[in-house]
Amino acid sequence: MTGPKALRLAVVPGDGIGVETTREAVRVLEALAADGAFALSMTRFPWSADHYLATGESLPDGAFEMLSRDFDAILVGAFGDPRIPDMRHAKEILLGMRFRMDLYVNYRPVKCLDDRLSPLKKWSAKDIDFVIFRENTEGSYAGMGGSFKKGTPDELAIEEDVSTRKGVERICRHAFEHALAFEKPKRLGRKPRVLMADKHNVHRFGGDLWHRVFLEVADAYPGCDASHMFVDALTMQMVKNPAALDVVVTNNMFGDIVTDLGAMLQGGLGVAASGNIHPGRTSMFEPIHGSAPYMAGKNVANPLGSILTVGMLLETLGHAEAASRVERAAVETIRRGATTADLGGTLSTSEAGDAVLP
Ligand code: IPM
Ligand code: MN
Repeated sequence: MTGPKALRLAVVPGDGIGVETTREAVRVLEALAADGAFALSMTRFPWSADHYLATGESLPDGAFEMLSRDFDAILVGAFGDPRIPDMRHAKEILLGMRFRMDLYVNYRPVKCLDDRLSPLKKWSAKDIDFVIFRENTEGSYAGMGGSFKKGTPDELAIEEDVSTRKGVERICRHAFEHALAFEKPKRLGRKPRVLMADKHNVHRFGGDLWHRVFLEVADAYPGCDASHMFVDALTMQMVKNPAALDVVVTNNMFGDIVTDLGAMLQGGLGVAASGNIHPGRTSMFEPIHGSAPYMAGKNVANPLGSILTVGMLLETLGHAEAASRVERAAVETIRRGATTADLGGTLSTSEAGDAVLP
């Protein structure tokens, strides 16, 4: 059932458990579509380690332009395979999409869905509910730098950390806009909080730019409380008092690191979802978990990260009702223990997917 207004999705399962978790997420999408939630047209792309080893190509020329032009969103599984130790295909596909499609918002909510998933004794699920915005197009991921006298005892290596005013400003602005709409501070009857984390005590140039631009943007949002922490202190705060956080904004590398900690606060990599977004453009959605080669093909991986990623995708594309159906169904399976082993259940990947189906 694909009418002219069908949701056009590109699906890239990738490697390892990505194939299995994406399969379950796709089944959830198909079930919602069959139920009349939306019309759906999906196209599967084989880009993966297998494809790279067989063809020598990560993805074809023009792929990013094609994705932007022909699809409303991209659902990605995971990349990584021991046969490609430098992760070349993974970088070309994943970082390629982020950079070449200018998906500058890496949206990683930290929302604990059930008390039994909280790893913190003092804090229950309702206390762990904040979001992290990671700048997604620059920083030390820019690939700038070089080496000199490589392979000799005098070898030197430089890895540049790039921040632009435009890049910092747009991610900070996005964080404040999100904060204004964020439900938790409304529920608590207080101003939404936006916290920027950097290391401007050490990073004299990039850190200084982040600090100044954040304060400038904050001035335009008097309805929000803006504050700052050094990123090392933020990692403490995330464990010590996560309830105090609403919206965190940080650079690419710090964001990479603190969102793994965030995933643990939610109940582990098995349940964490993420979006790589350029508002108004074709964006890419992926669970935070990797390809976990040791688990691949065994039907044991937790599909909830990928299923909740579908929820985020639907919400971003304006299907709020379908999105909340997905989240409610996922929360319900956790509540009744209908989960894979990582969350204490006994189900296989496909059974855990069944449990979520409408
Ligand atoms: C992530 C991953 C990637 C990153 C890797 C696979 C390049 O860790 O999405 O967080 O560092 O961004
Ligand atoms: Mn990471």
